[in-house]
This record gives sequence, structure tokens and C-alpha cells, in this order.
Amino acid sequence: MKIEKAKSYGFCFGVKRAVEIAENSKNAVTLGPLIHNPLEIKRLADNYNVKYVETLEEIDENIKRVIVRTHGIAKDKLQKLKEKDIEIIDATCPFVKKPQEIVEKMSNEGYDIVIFGDKNHPEIQGVMSYSTHNRVYTVLDEKELFDIKLKEKIATVAQTTRKLENYLKIVNYLISNYKEVRVFNTICNATFENQDAVKKLSKKADIMIIIGGKNSSNTKQLYNIAKENCESHLIESATELDPKWFESKRLCGISAGASTPEWLVEKIISKIKEIA
Ligand code: F3S
Repeated sequence: MKIEKAKSYGFCFGVKRAVEIAENSKNAVTLGPLIHNPLEIKRLADNYNVKYVETLEEIDENIKRVIVRTHGIAKDKLQKLKEKDIEIIDATCPFVKKPQEIVEKMSNEGYDIVIFGDKNHPEIQGVMSYSTHNRVYTVLDEKELFDIKLKEKIATVAQTTRKLENYLKIVNYLISNYKEVRVFNTICNATFENQDAVKKLSKKADIMIIIGGKNSSNTKQLYNIAKENCESHLIESATELDPKWFESKRLCGISAGASTPEWLVEKIISKIKEIA
């Protein structure tokens, strides 16, 4: 069986940057996991003593440095951090900062805000918190807007990891129903590149292995695209591989989410070679 990696996969610019910041900030904590990959989080804890806490309350006087993670944090939490006697190291991806700034500016100018994304995702909770009023509507599709009466001025942004074609449906609904719509394409290119590459490879592969955290939204997107075209499995570690998957397969495609480190991809490829 041949193994082929997608043309573009794995660590994006924002994650690479955050991991480097963490490696250079030994003995710091992050509020929530730095990135959505449990094994990389463990490596940072074991090798650099960079741990994470879930809540602000856990940050006691023994903690001197806090890293703000790639997905960013809510504005009020950032404010509370600033009130503590600690060093704040900001590893928010610049592409996540962008929608935060847009939402702050446009809400200040009186625009209703429509966010295409998952309101339970930390990135979106952060972005929502930048609105200076409460007319912020976070939706996953245009149908959720049917019963909402928006004002005439609307600004819209998207979660960085969403699919453009779905965002366009929301944008289309908005401009068909309202007079002034300011559209900001805040979807990240790194996600597009990994998605395009997985689409191409999964069309010719017999099986796709997608590596990444099961809580990672962009990894799940890759998996969903792959499984439209061939048998696909989303795994976090080599222990999940099942030799049966590879029986009578000729081409195995590999892709990985934006928070998946290269060392993990290589480890899984070696394991596939061993068992297939
Ligand atoms: Fe940033 Fe895009 Fe990665 S938003 S964290 S570069 S997927």
C-alpha cells in the first residue's frame, strides 16, 4: 500500500507561532488549552512546564505568566487578567484578532452583528465579546436568521475555520433581505489550503487517515470532506489505528488538522507502515 500526504496539511501559521511562543515562555500557564491537540499540549507541559488552567479563578499568586491561546479569549476575561499581577503573553492568532477588531468597530458604529460560527467555540465566544451592544447573532446557517428582525445596518464576520460556501449562503440571505450589509471574509486561508488538498487526495485514495484533536473544528472539517470521497478515519494517536482498515487498500492518504504537529504525523505514518 502506498502512503501519500496531502499537499498542504498540519500546523498553520497561527499554531506554529503559538507553539514557539509557548516554548519560549517556560513555566507559564495558558487559560484553556493553547491549541486543540492534546498530545502537543502534553509535550509542552512535559518539556517546557507550560500547563493550562480552565478558569481565571485557578490563576493564583504562584502563577507569574499567562499565555493567551490561539483562539483568543473574551474581552472581559482579558480585562480581569490585566488586573492581576502577572505577565500576559498574547498568542492569539492575528487572523482571530481581525474579527474581534471588526466586531468592536462595527458595533461601535451601530451595526447589528451576524457571526457565522459555533457559539460554543472559544474563538467565537471571544469574538462575540468584542461587541459593544447585545445585537450579536451567532448562527450556523441562514435559516436561523429567518425569525430575527435585524436593523438595516448589518456587519457580518465568519469563524476562521468555516467553509466559504456556507458563509456565502448567509451573506446571500442578508443582502437579499437588508439594504446595508458589510461583509468581512474572515475565513483563514490556511484552512482553505488544507481543505482543498484533502479534497483532491481523498478523490484518488482508498482510505484517508485524518490526524488531529477530536475537539478541533478544522480537523473535523477535513474529516467531513474526506469521508464524502472515501473511507476515512479521524484519529488522535497511533493507538487508534486498526490493521483491518488497510486490508486490500492500495493508496492511503494522510492529512492533519492545523494544530497537529509534524512529529505526530510521522509517528502515525510509521505505525501504518508497520501494521498495514
Ligand atoms: Fe490562525 Fe488560521 Fe491557524 S486563523 S490559528 S492561521 S487556521
